[in-house]
Formats: sequence, structure tokens, C-alpha cells
Amino acid sequence: MGNPWLKLTVLLVMWFSLGCQLSLGADTISANQSLSGNQTIVSSGGHFVLGFFTPGKSSNYYIGIWYRKVSEQTPVWVANRETPVRDIYSSELKISDGNLVLFNGSQIAIWSTNISSTSSGSVVAVLEDSGNLVLRDGPNSSAPLWQSLDHPTHTWLPGGKLMLNKRTNQSQLLTSWKNSEDPAPGLFSLELDPSGTNSYIILWNRTRRYWTSGAWDPQSKIFSLVPEMRLNYIYNFSFYSDENQSYFTYSLYNPETISRFIMDYSGQIKQLSWLESSQQWNLFWSQPRQQCQVYAFCGAFGSCTEGGLPFCSCLRGFVPKSNVNWNLSDFSDGCERTTRLQCEEDPGLATGKTDKFQESPNVKLPQNARSMSVGSISECESTCLEYCNCTAYAYDSDGCRIWMTELLDLQQYSEDTSDGKTIYIRLAASEFPSSSNNNRIIIGAVAGSVGLILCLVIFAVFRWRRQRMINPKVEGSLLAFGYRDLQNATKNFSEKLGEGGFGFVFKGTLLDSSIIAVKQLKSISQGEKQFRSEVSTIGMVQHVNLVRLRGFCSEGMRKLLVYDYMPNGSLDAHLFQQENSEALAWKTRYQIALGTARGLTYLHEKCRDCIIHCDIKPENILLDAEFCSKVADFGLAKLIGRDFSRVLTTMRGTRGYLAPEWISGVAVTAKADVYSYGMMLFEIVSGRRNSGQHEDGKVRFFPTSVARVITQDGDVLSLLDTQLNGDAPVEEVSRICKVACWCIQDDETQRPSMGQVVQILEGVLDVNVPPVPRSLNVFADNSEHIIFFTESSASQSSQTRSNTSNVSSQAKSNTSSMSS
Ligand SMILES: *[C@@H]1O[C@H](CO)[C@@H](O)[C@H](O)[C@H]1NC(C)=O
Ligand SMILES: *[C@@H]1O[C@H](CO)[C@@H](O)[C@H](O)[C@H]1NC(C)=O
Ligand SMILES: *[C@@H]1O[C@H](CO)[C@@H](O)[C@H](O)[C@H]1NC(C)=O
Ligand SMILES: *[C@@H]1O[C@H](CO)[C@@H](O)[C@H](O)[C@H]1NC(C)=O
Ligand SMILES: *[C@@H]1O[C@H](CO)[C@@H](O)[C@H](O)[C@H]1NC(C)=O
Ligand SMILES: *[C@@H]1O[C@H](CO)[C@@H](O)[C@H](O)[C@H]1NC(C)=O
Ligand SMILES: *[C@@H]1O[C@H](CO)[C@@H](O)[C@H](O)[C@H]1NC(C)=O
Ligand SMILES: *[C@@H]1O[C@H](CO)[C@@H](O)[C@H](O)[C@H]1NC(C)=O
Ligand SMILES: *[C@@H]1O[C@H](CO)[C@@H](O)[C@H](O)[C@H]1NC(C)=O
Ligand SMILES: *[C@@H]1O[C@H](CO)[C@@H](O)[C@H](O)[C@H]1NC(C)=O
Ligand SMILES: *[C@@H]1O[C@H](CO)[C@@H](O)[C@H](O)[C@H]1NC(C)=O
Repeated sequence: MGNPWLKLTVLLVMWFSLGCQLSLGADTISANQSLSGNQTIVSSGGHFVLGFFTPGKSSNYYIGIWYRKVSEQTPVWVANRETPVRDIYSSELKISDGNLVLFNGSQIAIWSTNISSTSSGSVVAVLEDSGNLVLRDGPNSSAPLWQSLDHPTHTWLPGGKLMLNKRTNQSQLLTSWKNSEDPAPGLFSLELDPSGTNSYIILWNRTRRYWTSGAWDPQSKIFSLVPEMRLNYIYNFSFYSDENQSYFTYSLYNPETISRFIMDYSGQIKQLSWLESSQQWNLFWSQPRQQCQVYAFCGAFGSCTEGGLPFCSCLRGFVPKSNVNWNLSDFSDGCERTTRLQCEEDPGLATGKTDKFQESPNVKLPQNARSMSVGSISECESTCLEYCNCTAYAYDSDGCRIWMTELLDLQQYSEDTSDGKTIYIRLAASEFPSSSNNNRIIIGAVAGSVGLILCLVIFAVFRWRRQRMINPKVEGSLLAFGYRDLQNATKNFSEKLGEGGFGFVFKGTLLDSSIIAVKQLKSISQGEKQFRSEVSTIGMVQHVNLVRLRGFCSEGMRKLLVYDYMPNGSLDAHLFQQENSEALAWKTRYQIALGTARGLTYLHEKCRDCIIHCDIKPENILLDAEFCSKVADFGLAKLIGRDFSRVLTTMRGTRGYLAPEWISGVAVTAKADVYSYGMMLFEIVSGRRNSGQHEDGKVRFFPTSVARVITQDGDVLSLLDTQLNGDAPVEEVSRICKVACWCIQDDETQRPSMGQVVQILEGVLDVNVPPVPRSLNVFADNSEHIIFFTESSASQSSQTRSNTSNVSSQAKSNTSSMSS
């Protein structure tokens, strides 16, 4: 009873939990409160939290604001970016002299809102539900003294403004973090162009511009160089301008969406939305599109390779300056020499002449070269050697250029790019193996000459083989192969991968050992010129969810297309497989559905000329090594104009996936693909063909079962492929089923666009319960169905009961007439 220790502990616990409660739940820091340790304040609607956080594995703490409902702690604003604290229990955030100030353990102010405030007694700091931290003179005062939205760090939140002050020509910056563990300002920043072009620019080191959005078009509400904004259903951007200022701001069409716009430490701006279903941030778009377009991304003496992993490497003879940062994908420190130059070792002597040059072909040359008027490559080299601070030279048709500084923004092109140049990079002579000491020189010379001869022989053989075997010309973005080349690459068309609607597909190997799929087109009636122009149009259509066309061959009647090879084959093989092989996990199926939708969105809405695929089915969805889905065979059916008005005269596509409008003969639009996609979604859920699912000895049409379950709020998991044993989130299965039903609405205007499908699958848009498509409705209360527009409809029609309605028999007769 009287145990003083027990009492003390109870008191301490009470005191502590009281202390926490004081701050927790409240959205305000008022004059006599302070925030310390793990205390936080939460905005009134519970969306945002303010407190100390530590990014990644760092041992530094920062005051920041993050989302309360996002499981992965994501700061949207940081106060003391450059002045972290180590001990959060002795540090305090509080109101002091009318400012919000962060004191470290020694009571030194290390961060402050830093306003010259008139009244100090009643100042409060309130965290609003928009993620804005506002300093006010009294809780009821409306005009903020200071607000965090006006001092953004790397995140531009909805409602925030990125402003240009026209009186001072000063722009507000969004600055990247240094890396994922250090919020200190990095090298990349976004701002409104101070010269008043109403466009955004991204700068490197606050000075060098490497990207621009293009001017704002108030009519279509897009930036001219960001056409994908057309497809944006998330962000409502608006522009404001008067004589003192101009700014952009944005809101979210759906306020429930959790979305942010950031200047990432990769040097790209990104728009990301939180996906509750997969608990991750989903990239909506980013600019510049290619990592190596970010100026000096790999730092001094680094080299950027698009598609490389990692993107950055050091030039030969150099190593990362900071391995720790390099490991965090922060390459901005760049690389340093492993061996000092001879001229730096002996500045007095003229031994700099013993430095040597490493040839580095097929690169994009660094910036800031100095042109020299000398007439030969050896003069160019010796000019460079004369200056100890000369780091590299290049000599070609543009003459001699030397670099007197660190090499920045060097990019290594892949082998199939032809606009690369050659640069010679200065290294200490000891970096080159053969000249380090006399004995070794002799051995080296012997070994070297043997090696040289071997190399020459190999090189000669290689050249000869190369010339004989594969010598494709480059046409635009495509390789033009000779028929013989492809005959060799495919070992005379010996390994058949499959047969599509357009001809056989064979596996082949190019000399760079990349594996290809070669499609032999049958019965191409087009003339040479038209064929080439259509093929080159297809070649320009590139997206991660589309199979890339690499090249073609056109010799008389021999028309072949060369694609990237997809190691996991087509989706049908995985969905409708034999019992003993492994079923695709739900997560994979969902990603395949989403990836396919993204690919189709690109075809429908983002390329210059709208491409309707016309033949969406599991056979045309290919899977790469990571089971990422890639739409194949696009653009082959026909290219049609943006106005969607042209009627296709020839019937294409595969029954079972064909939209009704194909049969009724009205104009076919991109919505026909939406229909086929919907049909495919059903099969992704069930793991079986829509038709021919037997139950109680009767044939069932799966979409009808789905429509029934969805509209009657039944058990959606009962629809799932039995091989998955119900192992899938109900919410996702339900969402996919609803989308699928929407996609197969008879009235194409009722079907969503592929862009909307993407948003629904991403969880960004909500989806209502769809009406039962009329064509399904007819059969809904009839357990035995005719198969509407399916592959086997002709043979199934005999099973049709006589009591099916007029609509169905008409549909049936249409279908039969189509198949005859
Ligand atoms: C804060 O100080 C004011 C006067 O300065 C006082 O009225 C109020 O009760 C104090 N609040 C707390 C929670 O101590
Ligand atoms: C704060 O930290 C204490 C111990 O350091 C812990 O008991 C308490 O649960 C923490 N509170 C919160 C809200 O994390
Ligand atoms: C507080 O900051 C000052 C100035 O930056 C520094 O000298 C001092 O060591 C810091 N104290 C603690 C406990 O971190
Ligand atoms: C506050 O502003 C003054 C100048 O107005 C500046 O010298 C000082 O460094 C600023 N302090 C902080 C903590 O930002
Ligand atoms: C602030 O407003 C609330 C209600 O709007 C009111 O009850 C309160 O008295 C006001 N406080 C002050 C200091 O004006
Ligand atoms: C701001 O930029 C505009 C356009 O470039 C120029 O006309 C104006 O003089 C500049 N103003 C200041 C204060 O630099
Ligand atoms: C960025 O610019 C500053 C001068 O404005 C310069 O001192 C600094 O070295 C530059 N940073 C890099 C990485 O070049
Ligand atoms: C988009 O934002 C503008 C300006 O804030 C607003 O007037 C408009 O109603 C918004 N549009 C939609 C569809 O929310
Ligand atoms: C621009 O600033 C001036 C001076 O501060 C002010 O008089 C004027 O009203 C401002 N214009 C607008 C449109 O806000
Ligand atoms: C960098 O990462 C590699 C492997 O991930 C690890 O072996 C190495 O120790 C790391 N280096 C540093 C300096 O953290
Ligand atoms: C390079 O060195 C020369 C003298 O050796 C000097 O005149 C020149 O300014 C230096 N250039 C740079 C860019 O440092």
C-alpha cells in the first residue's frame, strides 16, 4: 500500500500520459505550450501530423509535417532542413517573441519563422487540415502572420502556390532533398520562370535550366510541353496573374485523393498518389521523362547511362567521392581520381606530358568546352597536356575542344545510338597498365602484342560476321533489317513462338545477344511506302506497357516486324494453364490488368494519332521477365484519326472479345477496345475463358454471374479463380468486377475511357455499381445461356433454349452471319 516507489511510478506514468494527451489530438501550439520528444499535433480533420521525424536510417531529427493516414511516413514539409537535432527530448518547438522557434538541447534557436511580429502575447501555431502550418495572432485572427504553404520545401501540396514576385523577379522554389535521408536543399529546384513566360523551369544548382514545362495554355489548361496533362483527372491546375505577382495553384477534383507534387532528389518533378489498396505511392507522371536528361545527375566525372542500374557510374580511373551518398542514389558529389595526375605531383617539372588519355566513345559530350584552333588530333592532345587543369579533349569534325574543369553531364549512349561522340579523358600514366616498370614493359609488350594480334583477329572475324550477318540500317527510331539478317538471327525461322492473327512469330538472337521476336506478316497488301510509313509510326509508340517494335524488314512480299522478346510469353498461357502449373497470384493479375490499361490509355489518348488496338485478348498481352504486362500487336489493325469518325470497313478482332458495335456496323471507337478489355478482365478474375464454364452440367457465361453477384451485393470472392483459394482482397476483386461490367456496357458512351479505368484500378477514382448490360440482362434469370458474342457461339447456338428473347436471337443470328 504505502510503497513510495509504486506511487512515484504511477505518478510518473500519469504525468507522462497527461503530457502526451496535452499535445496529441490538439492542432495548436499556443503561447505556453511546447512540442518535444515524440509529441505531435494533429490537424483537426486528422489528415496531417506535425512533430519530430527521422528520415530513413538517419540519426538526425527534423520538425516536419506528414500524412497521418499514409502508412509509409511521408513528410510534406520540413522546418529545420539544414539544422537537424540529435536529441528530441531536450529540443523544443515553441512560440517565442511572436515566432515559432525550434530550440536545440543548448537552448539555441536553430530554426525560426523569422518574422518581425508586432504582437507576441497571443500568437498561436495551428496545423490545418490542408497540411498548412499557420502562425496567427490569436486563434480567431484570419490573416496569417506566416504559413508553411508559402515556404514549401520539396512538396507542393494542393492549395499551395508557387509564386513569382513580379516586383523583385524573385521566384519561390521547390527544392529537392539531398537524398532520401537528408532533407537539406539538394541541387534541383522548380520555379516559375522569372522572365515571365508563364512556364515552370527546373534548375540545377539554382542556375542552370534543364527542363521547361512550356507556356500555360489557359484554354485547355495544360502546359504546352506536358501534353499528358490532357489525361489528368486528378489535378485542377489554375493560373493567376496581376501586376505584382503570378502563380499557379491546384486543387484535387476528388478531395479524398491523397496526392502530392514533389521535386524529387532524382532531379525530376513527380506527381504521386497514395494507393490504399497496395499501400504505396503510385507515380502519375514525372518530368523530365529520362533520368539522364537531368543535368549533371551523376556529378563531376560521373557518367549517366539511360536504363542502367544504377544510372550512374564513375568514369574509368575515378571512384565515388562519397560511397554513403552514392549508395543512397545521391550522385551529386560525383567522382574523384584514384591517382593524382603527374602534373599535380610535380608542378615544377614538365612531367605532365606523361599523363595519358582514355578514349571513351559514343558519349554525349560534357558542357563548357573550350574550342581550340589546332589542326590535328595530336596537336589537340598536346594542347590539353600543356594545362594541368585540362581534364579532357575531343577532336572531330567540329574541331578541337578541351575541358578545363570537372566533367559534368557526360552521358554514355547505348550502342544503337549513332549521335555519340568520342572524348579523351586525362588520367595519370600509372592508370595504364603497360608502362609502370621496365621488366613489366617487356612482358607487357610481348603479352600485349600477342593480345593485340588476337584482338585484331577476333575483331576482323567479328566485323566480317557482323557485316555478313546483321547490318541493319537505322531508319528513324527503327532498324531496317535485310531478310538474310533475320534468317540468320532466327536460325532460318526454326524456333516458332506462336501464331497470331497476322502471321507466325519466331524467336531470334541478335549479335549483341539481345533476344528478339520476329513476326512474319502474311498477306500485307499495302504498298512499300505506306508500309514503311505505318511501321515507322508504330515504332514511335513507346511505353513500358507496350511491346517495343525494334525494327522491320521489307523486301518485296517479305514483310517482317522485329520486337523485343518477352520471356514469360502471353497471358493466356498463364491464365488458362494446365492444373499442375502454378496459378498467377492475385497481385500479379491486378498489376497485369493495370499495366494493360495503362498501355491502352497510351494508345488511345497519348500518341499523336489515336490507335485503336481492335484485338485485345489474353493472347495479345505479353509478359516480361518481371510479369509486367505489355500489349502486343497494336497499330497493325489500322491507324485511325483522332476524330474517331472513320468506320473500319474490314472486320477485325476475335470473337468473344468483340464489342457489339462491330456487328451492328456503326462507327467503331476506342471504346471497342474498352469492351474487349472488360471481357478480358473477367477472365483474369476467373482464370477461365468466359464461355464454356461448366457448372451442374450446364454452360455458364461468366460475365452474367459476375453482374448478378455485383448488383445483388453477393460474395465476390466466390467469383475468383478457385486455384487462388480466395486469397485476394475483396475490395480489389470487387473493383475489378465492377470495372469489367462497366466496360462491357452495350452503349459505348456508358463505358469508361481507358484513362478512367487506370484511375479506378489505381484507386484514385471510385466506381459505382454498374447497371447490368442489356445483353447480359436478357439471360440473367435464365440459368442456361446462349453465349453472346463468344468464340463458340456458332456451336453453342443449338443449345439455346427457345424461350430466349428476340434480342438474343437477333444477336445470335448476327453472330452467326458474322462467322460465316
Ligand atoms: C497559458 O497561458 C495563459 C495566460 O498566459 C493562461 O490563461 C492559460 O491557462 C495557459 N494555458 C495552459 C494550458 O497552461
Ligand atoms: C513516446 O515515447 C514513450 C517512451 O519513450 C512511449 O512510451 C510512448 O508510447 C510514445 N508515445 C507515442 C505517441 O509514440
Ligand atoms: C545547439 O546549436 C548550437 C549552434 O548550432 C551548437 O553549438 C550546440 O552544440 C547545439 N547543442 C546541442 C545540444 O545540439
Ligand atoms: C532571420 O532573418 C535574418 C535576416 O532577416 C537572418 O539574418 C537570420 O539568419 C534569419 N534566421 C533564421 C533562423 O532563419
Ligand atoms: C473565437 O471564436 C470563438 C467562436 O467562433 C469564440 O467562442 C471565442 O470567444 C473567440 N475568441 C476570441 C479570443 O475572440
Ligand atoms: C523582371 O523581369 C522583366 C522581364 O524579364 C524585366 O522587364 C524587369 O525589368 C525585371 N525586373 C526586375 C526588378 O529585375
Ligand atoms: C553550385 O554553385 C555554387 C555557386 O553558386 C558553387 O559554389 C558550387 O560549387 C556549385 N555546386 C556544384 C555541385 O557545382
Ligand atoms: C478548378 O479550379 C478552379 C479555380 O480554383 C475552380 O473555379 C473550378 O471550379 C475547379 N473545377 C473543378 C471541376 O473542380
Ligand atoms: C500591387 O501592389 C501595390 C503596392 O503594394 C498595391 O497598391 C496594388 O493594389 C497591388 N495590386 C494588386 C492587384 O494586388
Ligand atoms: C554500399 O552498398 C553496398 C551493397 O549494397 C555495401 O556492400 C557497401 O558497404 C555500402 N557502402 C557504404 C559506404 O555504405
Ligand atoms: C587552368 O590553369 C591555367 C594555368 O595553368 C590558368 O590560367 C587557368 O585560369 C586555369 N583554368 C581554370 C578553369 O581553372
